[in-house]
Amino acid sequence: MDLVARSKQVILENQAASGAFVASPSFEHYRYSWLRDGTFIAYSLDGVGEREGAERFYQWTVRTIEMHREKAQSVIDRAGKGEAIPQSDLLHTRYTLEGEEVHAEWGTYQLDGYGTWLWGLSEHFRIHQPEDLITQFKPTYTLIAEYLLLLWKIPNFDCWEEFGDQVHPATIGAIYGGLKGISTFLEEPLRRVIDQELTNMKEFLLKEGTAYGHFSKSVGNPEIDASLLWLHVPYGVVEAENPLFRETVEKIQSRLLFECGLHRYPQDVYYGGGQWILLSGYLGWHYSVCGEVEKVRELLHWIEDQFDEQGNLSEQVQHHLLAPEHYDRWVEQSGQPACPLLWSHAMHLILTSKLNLGGKKISV
Ligand code: BGC
Repeated sequence: MDLVARSKQVILENQAASGAFVASPSFEHYRYSWLRDGTFIAYSLDGVGEREGAERFYQWTVRTIEMHREKAQSVIDRAGKGEAIPQSDLLHTRYTLEGEEVHAEWGTYQLDGYGTWLWGLSEHFRIHQPEDLITQFKPTYTLIAEYLLLLWKIPNFDCWEEFGDQVHPATIGAIYGGLKGISTFLEEPLRRVIDQELTNMKEFLLKEGTAYGHFSKSVGNPEIDASLLWLHVPYGVVEAENPLFRETVEKIQSRLLFECGLHRYPQDVYYGGGQWILLSGYLGWHYSVCGEVEKVRELLHWIEDQFDEQGNLSEQVQHHLLAPEHYDRWVEQSGQPACPLLWSHAMHLILTSKLNLGGKKISV
């Protein structure tokens, strides 16, 4: 079986009857559906002609968000009056496959997944122009747009589910990309409010989200993080040529890239801080937009080399660990690293689709 067919199979076989995608079927803590992972998985399906799987996921997310509408509405009403919102009142970041909240100790309060969701949904709309869904989902995406417009600057857990007391540029990037994408499907006056807030977000990022000439891991923390790649693709906050972004890529590569495998951030100790397959996918996506086909090909080959004998891609590989002394502790505590991870397979498909676009300079 070719590897593209295999990635599709792993994803489709692990889509629940509800439409949700489990993050990883074999890793206990990942037997839930995340908006972040799920949206990139759905986007990967949209890129390889699997519209139905993507649509079923978006149907599930809309049902799920509607189940928790009251919570979101109450946050909007209170934040709109200037009230401070405790994190414990926020929408959750992951749900059971039936859309229920999961009550366990976890970095549950993250905003990036909702931004990612708006972005992915708007891409789904742009690609397929499904007039019925654009109308049917409108109350839900309007709710989430209003929610994010009010909350984007509050501290919340980052996309790695850590550092919940900080404000993360990559998270704001996801919100920016989501609001920008979905605004096409909304009306005035909301569109105007979004436009204004996009300008504010960008100004904030350029002023508070940088250090030493590059974007920073969080406001006030000058470290880098590979998720900052998102500020270019897919969220389009900056162009590839932006000097701050170029320096960010340069730092990410010099500090986090070993061969073609990318680490998350220099101090990562989760499973010894291995190389995340999905991150090599984002680096390749960035290069595909720059028209650097050879680099895309190299990254894609590296990803394909990471398939194990069962035809699965894991979350991270251990060829090069940043903190090897932490590896055993994680295995003892939680078992082997998650494998397969559907998000890794999604990035394999996305990068393959981008390469198949012929290496022309492409828009996201
Ligand atoms: C990662 C998240 C991801 C989740 C499920 C976590 O370990 O940090 O980014 O959404 O796993 O895959």
